[in-house]
Amino acid sequence: MNDYQQFIENVKRKTGIDLSQYKEAQMKRRLTSLYEKRGLKSFQQFFQEMEKDEKLFHEFLDRMTINVSEFYRNAKRWEVLEKKILPKLLEQNRHLKIWSAACSTGEEPYTLAMVVSKLVPLARVSILATDIDENAIARAKIGMYTERSLQELPEEMKRKFFTKEGMYYKIDEKIKRAVTFKKHNLLADPFDRQFDLIVCRNVLIYFTEEAKERLYYKFNQALRPGGILFVGSTEQIFNPGLYGFEMEDTFFYRKIN
Ligand SMILES: C[S@@+](CC[C@H](N)C(=O)[O-])C[C@H]1O[C@@H](n2cnc3c(N)ncnc32)[C@H](O)[C@@H]1O
Repeated sequence: MNDYQQFIENVKRKTGIDLSQYKEAQMKRRLTSLYEKRGLKSFQQFFQEMEKDEKLFHEFLDRMTINVSEFYRNAKRWEVLEKKILPKLLEQNRHLKIWSAACSTGEEPYTLAMVVSKLVPLARVSILATDIDENAIARAKIGMYTERSLQELPEEMKRKFFTKEGMYYKIDEKIKRAVTFKKHNLLADPFDRQFDLIVCRNVLIYFTEEAKERLYYKFNQALRPGGILFVGSTEQIFNPGLYGFEMEDTFFYRKIN
């Protein structure tokens, strides 16, 4: 077993996180630059240090989970969601069950709540938001953001759903209350069922092809028939039929069986 493979085993034992399901070259590069910065020479040494130094362990977690996010990311897609996807889902079901999987610091599930609230009262929706990273979830629950994460958000939504406090923008309480946050590892934990909409964006790119394919099946199982999977703007599914989906619109897939 080489240095990195041994590290993968150790991390799995310590945290339950299976790094072998993340693209290797990319992950190795990210982690090597972190341990080299600390003057360490190998993954073995890195793990030994991590065992002694809680702070380094958290830096590792921070480095492996890439938390970049923003409100209304890829604006065009959110317009399609609001104008086409949600109205159809709401015709089929009075109450929508939505999951933002790998929600990072909350921008995505809160965007969902804002967009849904333009169409129906929030009492008609439940939004589950999950991420593997507890720190990201803790930040999401605080609900304070800098100007940068609001860049893509239409001005009118910014005015309606945020109040400025110093250099931060605070999210509206009603939007906050519409979202339930939970820690969840997409590669290891069981999935809930009967979702109308699953939003999983900008995390599949980090996984190996095999891990991705397993997830497409699992998302399919987690949706109700006719439910929609919404993926990131670099993550189209090339053969949706293989996983029981058909394309509904660019980056939106409907469960057909
Ligand atoms: C780049 S962010 C994407 C955030 C948001 N979905 C968006 O598109 O803006 C990727 C997120 O995936 C999370 N993540 C990485 N591996 C994960 C896993 N195995 N299970 C759940 N979340 C994971 C990271 O913690 C990070 O918050």
